[in-house]
Amino acid sequence: MKVLIIGAGNMGKTYARSFLASRFIDANDLYILERSTGSVAGIKEIPQGNIHPQAGEFIAQADIIILSVKPQDFPTLGRHIMPYVKNTQLILSIMAGIKIAAIYEAIGATKIVRAMPNLPAQIGMGMTVFTSSADIDKKELFIMQNLINTTGKSVYVEDENKIDAATAISGSGPAYVYYFMEAMIQAGVKMGFTLSQAELLVNQTFMGAVHLHNQSDLTCEEWIARVASKGGTTEAALKVMKENTVESNIESALFAAFNRAKELGN
Ligand SMILES: NC(=O)c1ccc[n+]([C@@H]2O[C@H](COP(=O)([O-])OP(=O)(O)OC[C@H]3O[C@@H](n4cnc5c(N)ncnc54)[C@H](OP(=O)(O)O)[C@@H]3O)[C@@H](O)[C@H]2O)c1
Repeated sequence: MKVLIIGAGNMGKTYARSFLASRFIDANDLYILERSTGSVAGIKEIPQGNIHPQAGEFIAQADIIILSVKPQDFPTLGRHIMPYVKNTQLILSIMAGIKIAAIYEAIGATKIVRAMPNLPAQIGMGMTVFTSSADIDKKELFIMQNLINTTGKSVYVEDENKIDAATAISGSGPAYVYYFMEAMIQAGVKMGFTLSQAELLVNQTFMGAVHLHNQSDLTCEEWIARVASKGGTTEAALKVMKENTVESNIESALFAAFNRAKELGN
């Protein structure tokens, strides 16, 4: 199975490394179309002859084409690759905001998977939500999900609009986590810890809390009840969070991201 990755930036390279590390794709079957020469120089396994600086007949030879350029670069790229794309090829697009219909319009492909991954894909801990065009059959979808799963976990959605919701939750999600962590680290420093101590306290707390949650059937609310005893310190903190409507502020923030994703898609 020949796989062509178009766009060798952060995500393109993440996919290339994940396919190779999982042994899902042999290096000889991995092809790259890069704009800036040397973009994949760090991935030594890929034969030099498989790395192309411009569109050409090799595009027609791929079974799967991954579109990982920035959305604003897609119109130009689309014009360059359209003459070589066949409608038997499977397309995996991770471009934010570019709808399946727009990809069909630009390159004429009909077997399209549209996915929204997130940054931890870089370490195999990604979360990807994906959907597909009607032309993809179950077997093809299974192959695509296996490819995606080399970067972490995935969820399939029927409704393409849910990709915008996924962008707001898991796509942008890592940034919200870092925002919360940073606020805790700064508070720790103000209480007298050194920066590296505060970072350790916060990192380990996030990691421990998530692992504990994953290893049980308890909900977040039930875990909160286990930490917060009546009249205690956690209760004092949660009271301030409730007074400041932190929960509904988080919800508003996520809906702002959801609405922005919808706007960008239009
Ligand atoms: N980063 C994330 O966390 C994330 C999460 C979800 C989805 N995405 C989506 O993933 C896509 C890629 O994001 P990224 O962060 O990997 O961006 P990036 O690091 O900027 O990578 C994009 C790559 O595409 C190359 N490129 C642009 N036009 C090209 C063309 N005509 N032919 C060949 N290569 C071309 C760029 O080349 P140059 O080096 O010459 O600029 C660059 O190497 C975006 O559409 C984004 O919406 C990203």
